[in-house]
Amino acid sequence: MSVKDQSFACGDAGENNIQVFVRIRPPSGDEPGYSRVVDVADGGTQLILHQEPNPRIFAFDFVADITSTQDAIFNRLGRKVIENCVAGYNGTIFAYGQTGSGKTFTMLGPNEDADNFQHELRGVIPRSFEYLYQLIEREKELHGEGKQFLCKCSFLEIYNEQIFDLLEPSPTVLHLRESLKTGVYVAGLSEKVVADASEAYEVLCSSWMNRKVASTSMNRESSRSHAVFCLQIESKEKKGSVEHIRTSQLNLVDLAGSERQKDTNATGIRLKEAGSINKSLSNLGNVIMALVTVSRDNKKRYIPYRDSKLTFLLRDSLGGNSKTSLIACIHPGHKCFGETLSMLQCTCLL
Ligand SMILES: Nc1ncnc2c1ncn2[C@@H]1O[C@H](COP(=O)(O)OP(=O)(O)O)[C@@H](O)[C@H]1O
Ligand SMILES: [Mg+2]
Repeated sequence: MSVKDQSFACGDAGENNIQVFVRIRPPSGDEPGYSRVVDVADGGTQLILHQEPNPRIFAFDFVADITSTQDAIFNRLGRKVIENCVAGYNGTIFAYGQTGSGKTFTMLGPNEDADNFQHELRGVIPRSFEYLYQLIEREKELHGEGKQFLCKCSFLEIYNEQIFDLLEPSPTVLHLRESLKTGVYVAGLSEKVVADASEAYEVLCSSWMNRKVASTSMNRESSRSHAVFCLQIESKEKKGSVEHIRTSQLNLVDLAGSERQKDTNATGIRLKEAGSINKSLSNLGNVIMALVTVSRDNKKRYIPYRDSKLTFLLRDSLGGNSKTSLIACIHPGHKCFGETLSMLQCTCLL
Protein backbone atom coordinates (compact mmCIF):
# COMPACT_ATOMS: atom_id res chain seq x y z
CA MET A 1 0.00 0.00 0.00
CA SER A 2 1.42 3.32 -0.99
CA VAL A 3 1.75 5.93 1.72
CA LYS A 4 2.51 8.78 -0.61
CA ASP A 5 -0.93 10.00 -1.56
CA GLN A 6 -1.24 13.12 0.53
CA SER A 7 1.14 15.06 2.66
CA PHE A 8 0.26 17.97 4.93
CA ALA A 9 2.90 20.23 6.41
CA CYS A 10 2.36 21.43 9.95
CA GLY A 11 4.37 23.66 12.22
CA ASP A 12 6.97 25.92 10.79
CA ALA A 13 10.18 24.10 10.00
CA GLY A 14 13.50 25.95 10.17
CA GLU A 15 14.37 28.82 12.51
CA ASN A 16 10.93 29.15 13.92
CA ASN A 17 9.13 30.57 16.87
CA ILE A 18 6.15 28.24 16.70
CA GLN A 19 6.68 24.50 16.77
CA VAL A 20 4.05 21.80 16.53
CA PHE A 21 4.73 18.34 17.90
CA VAL A 22 2.68 15.18 18.19
CA ARG A 23 2.98 12.65 21.00
CA ILE A 24 1.49 9.20 20.61
CA ARG A 25 0.67 7.78 24.02
CA PRO A 26 1.05 4.04 24.65
CA PRO A 27 -2.18 2.02 24.75
CA SER A 28 -3.23 1.25 28.31
CA GLY A 29 -2.76 -2.52 28.02
CA ASP A 30 -6.35 -3.52 28.82
CA GLU A 31 -7.95 -2.44 25.55
CA PRO A 32 -9.77 -5.37 23.96
CA GLY A 33 -9.35 -5.61 20.19
CA TYR A 34 -6.73 -2.85 20.16
CA SER A 35 -5.22 -2.18 16.76
CA ARG A 36 -2.82 0.60 15.95
CA VAL A 37 -3.75 3.14 13.27
CA VAL A 38 -0.80 5.55 13.42
CA ASP A 39 2.89 5.22 12.67
CA VAL A 40 5.88 7.51 12.79
CA ALA A 41 8.03 7.90 9.67
CA ASP A 42 10.84 9.94 8.19
CA GLY A 43 12.98 10.06 11.33
CA GLY A 44 10.12 11.44 13.42
CA THR A 45 8.87 14.25 11.19
CA GLN A 46 5.91 12.42 9.67
CA LEU A 47 2.86 10.77 11.06
CA ILE A 48 1.08 8.15 8.97
CA LEU A 49 -2.60 7.59 9.64
CA HIS A 50 -3.70 4.22 8.25
CA GLN A 51 -7.04 4.43 6.51
CA GLU A 52 -8.75 2.94 3.47
CA PRO A 53 -8.14 3.20 0.59
CA ASN A 54 -4.83 5.00 1.21
CA PRO A 55 -2.98 6.09 4.32
CA ARG A 56 -2.52 9.81 4.90
CA ILE A 57 0.73 11.47 5.81
CA PHE A 58 1.00 14.51 8.04
CA ALA A 59 4.28 16.36 8.62
CA PHE A 60 5.16 17.97 11.95
CA ASP A 61 8.22 19.45 13.58
CA PHE A 62 8.49 16.21 15.50
CA VAL A 63 6.35 13.15 16.18
CA ALA A 64 7.16 11.31 19.42
CA ASP A 65 6.27 7.63 19.40
CA ILE A 66 4.86 5.64 22.31
CA THR A 67 8.28 4.85 23.78
CA SER A 68 9.31 8.52 24.13
CA THR A 69 10.44 9.45 27.60
CA GLN A 70 9.29 12.50 29.53
CA ASP A 71 12.86 13.77 29.45
CA ALA A 72 13.05 13.50 25.65
CA ILE A 73 9.70 15.28 25.33
CA PHE A 74 10.86 18.14 27.54
CA ASN A 75 14.09 18.48 25.57
CA ARG A 76 12.18 18.82 22.30
CA LEU A 77 9.38 20.98 23.58
CA GLY A 78 10.63 22.99 26.49
CA ARG A 79 14.33 23.79 26.50
CA LYS A 80 14.33 26.49 23.82
CA VAL A 81 11.20 28.10 25.26
CA ILE A 82 12.78 28.34 28.74
CA GLU A 83 16.12 29.60 27.42
CA ASN A 84 14.26 32.30 25.52
CA CYS A 85 12.34 33.29 28.67
CA VAL A 86 15.56 33.69 30.65
CA ALA A 87 16.82 35.90 27.83
CA GLY A 88 13.76 38.14 28.35
CA TYR A 89 11.19 36.86 25.82
CA ASN A 90 7.83 35.27 26.48
CA GLY A 91 7.14 31.60 25.94
CA THR A 92 4.15 29.28 25.91
CA ILE A 93 3.78 25.51 25.91
CA PHE A 94 0.37 23.98 25.15
CA ALA A 95 -0.83 20.39 25.36
CA TYR A 96 -3.76 19.70 23.04
CA GLY A 97 -5.85 16.55 22.57
CA GLN A 98 -8.96 14.63 23.52
CA THR A 99 -9.57 13.59 27.13
CA GLY A 100 -7.36 10.62 28.00
CA SER A 101 -4.80 11.32 25.26
CA GLY A 102 -2.02 12.19 27.72
CA LYS A 103 -2.10 16.00 28.04
CA THR A 104 -1.86 16.08 31.83
CA PHE A 105 0.66 13.21 31.81
CA THR A 106 2.79 15.25 29.40
CA MET A 107 2.45 18.56 31.25
CA LEU A 108 2.36 17.46 34.89
CA GLY A 109 3.18 13.77 35.26
CA PRO A 110 1.56 10.43 35.89
CA ASN A 111 -0.51 11.11 38.96
CA GLU A 112 -2.39 14.31 39.63
CA ASP A 113 -2.62 13.63 43.37
CA ALA A 114 0.89 12.51 44.17
CA ASP A 115 4.07 14.46 44.66
CA ASN A 116 5.65 14.04 41.26
CA PHE A 117 8.57 16.41 41.55
CA GLN A 118 11.25 13.77 42.02
CA HIS A 119 9.41 11.25 39.91
CA GLU A 120 11.24 10.16 36.79
CA LEU A 121 7.92 10.46 34.95
CA ARG A 122 7.43 14.08 35.98
CA GLY A 123 6.20 16.18 33.10
CA VAL A 124 7.04 19.35 31.20
CA ILE A 125 5.94 21.78 33.95
CA PRO A 126 8.20 20.50 36.76
CA ARG A 127 11.04 20.05 34.28
CA SER A 128 10.52 23.62 33.09
CA PHE A 129 10.87 24.86 36.68
CA GLU A 130 14.07 22.88 37.16
CA TYR A 131 15.64 24.11 33.94
CA LEU A 132 14.50 27.69 34.48
CA TYR A 133 16.09 27.94 37.93
CA GLN A 134 19.19 26.11 36.70
CA LEU A 135 19.63 28.79 34.02
CA ILE A 136 18.91 31.56 36.52
CA GLU A 137 21.60 30.16 38.86
CA ARG A 138 24.02 30.07 35.94
CA GLU A 139 23.27 33.70 35.12
CA LYS A 140 23.76 34.70 38.76
CA GLU A 141 27.10 32.89 38.88
CA LEU A 142 28.18 34.67 35.71
CA HIS A 143 27.09 38.14 36.82
CA GLY A 144 27.34 37.91 40.62
CA GLU A 145 25.53 40.62 42.57
CA GLY A 146 25.12 42.57 39.33
CA LYS A 147 22.14 40.54 38.18
CA GLN A 148 19.07 39.64 40.18
CA PHE A 149 15.98 37.65 39.36
CA LEU A 150 12.48 37.67 40.76
CA CYS A 151 9.95 35.01 39.74
CA LYS A 152 6.23 35.20 40.50
CA CYS A 153 3.66 32.62 39.60
CA SER A 154 -0.08 32.51 39.12
CA PHE A 155 -2.45 29.75 38.13
CA LEU A 156 -5.86 30.16 36.56
CA GLU A 157 -8.54 28.15 34.90
CA ILE A 158 -10.74 29.13 31.96
CA TYR A 159 -14.05 27.34 32.14
CA ASN A 160 -16.93 28.24 29.81
CA GLU A 161 -15.03 31.39 28.81
CA GLN A 162 -14.85 32.50 32.46
CA ILE A 163 -11.61 32.97 34.36
CA PHE A 164 -11.11 31.61 37.90
CA ASP A 165 -8.13 31.92 40.24
CA LEU A 166 -6.66 28.57 41.29
CA LEU A 167 -3.92 29.88 43.56
CA GLU A 168 -6.49 31.44 45.91
CA PRO A 169 -9.61 29.66 44.69
CA SER A 170 -12.88 31.52 44.73
CA PRO A 171 -16.09 31.36 42.72
CA THR A 172 -15.50 34.97 41.64
CA VAL A 173 -15.14 35.36 37.90
CA LEU A 174 -12.04 37.40 37.02
CA HIS A 175 -11.75 39.73 34.04
CA LEU A 176 -9.10 40.52 31.50
CA ARG A 177 -7.81 44.08 31.36
CA GLU A 178 -5.36 45.81 29.15
CA SER A 179 -2.83 48.47 30.06
CA LEU A 180 -0.28 50.28 27.96
CA LYS A 181 2.47 49.45 30.44
CA THR A 182 1.85 45.79 31.18
CA GLY A 183 -0.27 44.64 28.25
CA VAL A 184 -3.09 42.15 28.91
CA TYR A 185 -3.54 41.01 32.52
CA VAL A 186 -6.15 39.40 34.76
CA ALA A 187 -7.43 41.91 37.30
CA GLY A 188 -7.35 40.55 40.85
CA LEU A 189 -5.41 37.37 40.06
CA SER A 190 -3.25 36.15 42.97
CA GLU A 191 0.50 35.89 42.56
CA LYS A 192 3.17 34.24 44.63
CA VAL A 193 6.91 34.84 44.63
CA VAL A 194 8.77 31.57 44.15
CA ALA A 195 12.47 31.41 44.95
CA ASP A 196 13.34 28.04 43.50
CA ALA A 197 12.00 25.08 41.56
CA SER A 198 10.68 23.24 44.59
CA GLU A 199 8.72 26.29 45.77
CA ALA A 200 7.22 26.66 42.31
CA TYR A 201 6.34 23.00 42.36
CA GLU A 202 4.65 23.29 45.76
CA VAL A 203 2.47 26.11 44.43
CA LEU A 204 1.66 24.07 41.35
CA CYS A 205 0.68 20.99 43.39
CA SER A 206 -1.55 22.83 45.83
CA SER A 207 -3.27 24.83 43.12
CA TRP A 208 -3.71 21.73 40.95
CA MET A 209 -5.54 20.18 43.88
CA ASN A 210 -7.64 23.36 44.06
CA ARG A 211 -8.59 22.76 40.44
CA LYS A 212 -9.87 19.29 41.28
CA VAL A 213 -11.75 20.49 44.35
CA ALA A 214 -13.27 23.43 42.47
CA SER A 215 -14.38 21.18 39.65
CA THR A 216 -16.16 18.84 42.05
CA SER A 217 -17.77 21.52 44.17
CA MET A 218 -18.94 23.57 41.19
CA ASN A 219 -20.03 20.65 39.03
CA ARG A 220 -17.46 21.29 36.37
CA GLU A 221 -15.25 18.67 34.89
CA SER A 222 -11.55 19.60 35.16
CA SER A 223 -10.82 18.12 31.72
CA ARG A 224 -13.35 20.63 30.32
CA SER A 225 -11.33 23.68 31.33
CA HIS A 226 -8.02 25.18 30.25
CA ALA A 227 -5.47 25.37 33.08
CA VAL A 228 -2.85 28.11 32.64
CA PHE A 229 0.19 28.25 34.92
CA CYS A 230 2.13 31.51 34.45
CA LEU A 231 5.59 32.38 35.68
CA GLN A 232 6.68 36.01 35.44
CA ILE A 233 10.44 36.29 35.31
CA GLU A 234 11.97 39.67 36.08
CA SER A 235 15.69 40.32 35.85
CA LYS A 236 17.52 43.42 37.00
CA GLU A 237 21.00 44.04 35.74
CA LYS A 238 23.26 46.94 36.70
CA LYS A 239 25.44 48.28 33.93
CA GLY A 240 27.40 51.20 35.34
CA SER A 241 24.86 53.50 36.92
CA VAL A 242 22.02 52.23 34.73
CA GLU A 243 19.71 49.45 35.83
CA HIS A 244 18.21 47.30 33.06
CA ILE A 245 14.96 45.56 33.90
CA ARG A 246 13.57 42.79 31.72
CA THR A 247 10.40 40.85 32.22
CA SER A 248 9.16 37.80 30.46
CA GLN A 249 6.33 35.39 30.95
CA LEU A 250 6.28 31.61 30.70
CA ASN A 251 2.82 30.08 30.21
CA LEU A 252 2.30 26.35 30.68
CA VAL A 253 -1.11 25.31 29.45
CA ASP A 254 -3.08 22.08 29.87
CA LEU A 255 -5.91 22.63 27.38
CA ALA A 256 -9.44 21.33 27.73
CA GLY A 257 -10.21 18.03 25.96
CA SER A 258 -10.75 18.48 22.22
CA GLU A 259 -13.38 15.73 21.80
CA ARG A 260 -15.90 16.40 19.09
CA GLN A 261 -19.30 17.53 20.24
CA LYS A 262 -21.17 15.02 18.13
CA ASP A 263 -19.25 12.09 19.69
CA THR A 264 -19.98 12.98 23.28
CA ASN A 265 -23.80 13.03 23.22
CA ALA A 266 -23.57 16.11 25.37
CA THR A 267 -26.68 17.87 26.60
CA GLY A 268 -27.35 20.79 28.96
CA ILE A 269 -24.33 22.04 30.88
CA ARG A 270 -21.97 19.62 29.08
CA LEU A 271 -23.18 20.87 25.71
CA LYS A 272 -22.45 24.44 26.76
CA GLU A 273 -18.98 23.36 27.91
CA ALA A 274 -18.36 21.61 24.60
CA GLY A 275 -19.44 24.74 22.71
CA SER A 276 -17.03 26.99 24.68
CA ILE A 277 -14.19 24.51 24.27
CA ASN A 278 -14.71 24.15 20.53
CA LYS A 279 -14.84 27.89 20.15
CA SER A 280 -11.70 28.58 22.12
CA LEU A 281 -9.71 25.68 20.62
CA SER A 282 -10.64 26.64 17.09
CA ASN A 283 -9.79 30.25 17.88
CA LEU A 284 -6.41 29.14 19.24
CA GLY A 285 -5.88 27.25 15.97
CA ASN A 286 -6.81 30.37 13.97
CA VAL A 287 -4.44 32.56 15.97
CA ILE A 288 -1.54 30.15 15.67
CA MET A 289 -2.22 29.62 11.98
CA ALA A 290 -2.23 33.38 11.41
CA LEU A 291 1.04 33.75 13.35
CA VAL A 292 2.70 30.96 11.38
CA THR A 293 1.63 32.63 8.14
CA VAL A 294 2.95 35.99 9.33
CA SER A 295 6.34 34.57 10.28
CA ARG A 296 6.57 32.44 7.15
CA ASP A 297 5.49 35.02 4.60
CA ASN A 298 6.67 38.08 6.48
CA LYS A 299 3.30 39.73 5.80
CA LYS A 300 0.98 41.68 8.07
CA ARG A 301 -2.19 39.87 8.97
CA TYR A 302 -5.06 40.37 11.37
CA ILE A 303 -4.66 38.03 14.36
CA PRO A 304 -7.99 37.32 16.10
CA TYR A 305 -6.66 37.36 19.69
CA ARG A 306 -9.83 38.89 21.08
CA ASP A 307 -12.09 36.08 19.91
CA SER A 308 -11.49 33.95 23.02
CA LYS A 309 -10.32 34.50 26.60
CA LEU A 310 -7.38 32.15 26.17
CA THR A 311 -5.87 33.87 23.15
CA PHE A 312 -6.52 37.36 24.50
CA LEU A 313 -4.88 36.38 27.80
CA LEU A 314 -1.85 35.04 25.92
CA ARG A 315 -1.76 37.82 23.30
CA ASP A 316 1.56 39.22 24.47
CA SER A 317 3.11 35.75 24.71
CA LEU A 318 2.30 34.54 21.20
CA GLY A 319 3.97 35.92 18.11
CA GLY A 320 6.90 38.33 17.78
CA ASN A 321 10.03 37.06 19.53
CA SER A 322 8.04 34.71 21.74
CA LYS A 323 8.53 30.99 21.43
CA THR A 324 5.53 28.68 21.35
CA SER A 325 5.42 24.88 21.45
CA LEU A 326 2.20 23.00 20.90
CA ILE A 327 2.08 19.28 21.57
CA ALA A 328 -0.87 17.41 20.14
CA CYS A 329 -1.43 14.23 22.15
CA ILE A 330 -3.05 11.25 20.46
CA HIS A 331 -4.01 7.69 21.21
CA PRO A 332 -2.70 5.15 18.65
CA GLY A 333 -5.76 2.86 18.59
CA HIS A 334 -8.46 2.48 15.95
CA LYS A 335 -11.15 3.38 18.50
CA CYS A 336 -9.83 6.94 18.49
CA PHE A 337 -9.53 7.14 14.69
CA GLY A 338 -12.21 9.83 14.28
CA GLU A 339 -10.73 12.02 17.02
CA THR A 340 -7.20 11.49 15.78
CA LEU A 341 -8.11 12.43 12.21
CA SER A 342 -9.96 15.56 13.30
CA MET A 343 -7.09 16.57 15.59
CA LEU A 344 -4.47 16.01 12.89
CA GLN A 345 -6.55 18.04 10.47
CA CYS A 346 -6.79 20.96 12.87
CA THR A 347 -3.20 20.94 14.09
CA CYS A 348 -2.15 20.56 10.48
CA LEU A 349 -3.67 23.89 9.63
CA LEU A 350 -1.07 25.40 11.94
N1 LIG B 1 2.86 8.64 27.56
C1 LIG B 1 2.22 7.98 28.55
N2 LIG B 1 2.82 6.95 29.19
C2 LIG B 1 2.18 6.29 30.19
N3 LIG B 1 0.94 6.58 30.63
C3 LIG B 1 0.29 7.59 30.03
C4 LIG B 1 0.88 8.34 28.96
N4 LIG B 1 0.00 9.28 28.56
C5 LIG B 1 -1.09 9.13 29.34
N5 LIG B 1 -0.92 8.11 30.22
C6 LIG B 1 -1.91 7.67 31.23
O1 LIG B 1 -3.20 7.66 30.61
C7 LIG B 1 -4.19 8.22 31.47
C8 LIG B 1 -4.86 9.44 30.81
O2 LIG B 1 -3.88 10.43 30.60
P1 LIG B 1 -4.10 11.97 30.96
O3 LIG B 1 -2.76 12.64 30.89
O4 LIG B 1 -4.83 12.12 32.25
O5 LIG B 1 -5.01 12.44 29.75
P2 LIG B 1 -5.66 13.87 29.48
O6 LIG B 1 -5.07 14.86 30.42
O7 LIG B 1 -5.36 14.17 28.04
O8 LIG B 1 -7.14 13.69 29.71
C9 LIG B 1 -3.49 8.57 32.76
O9 LIG B 1 -3.64 7.48 33.66
C10 LIG B 1 -2.04 8.70 32.36
O10 LIG B 1 -1.14 8.43 33.42
MG1 LIG C 1 -6.05 16.08 31.83
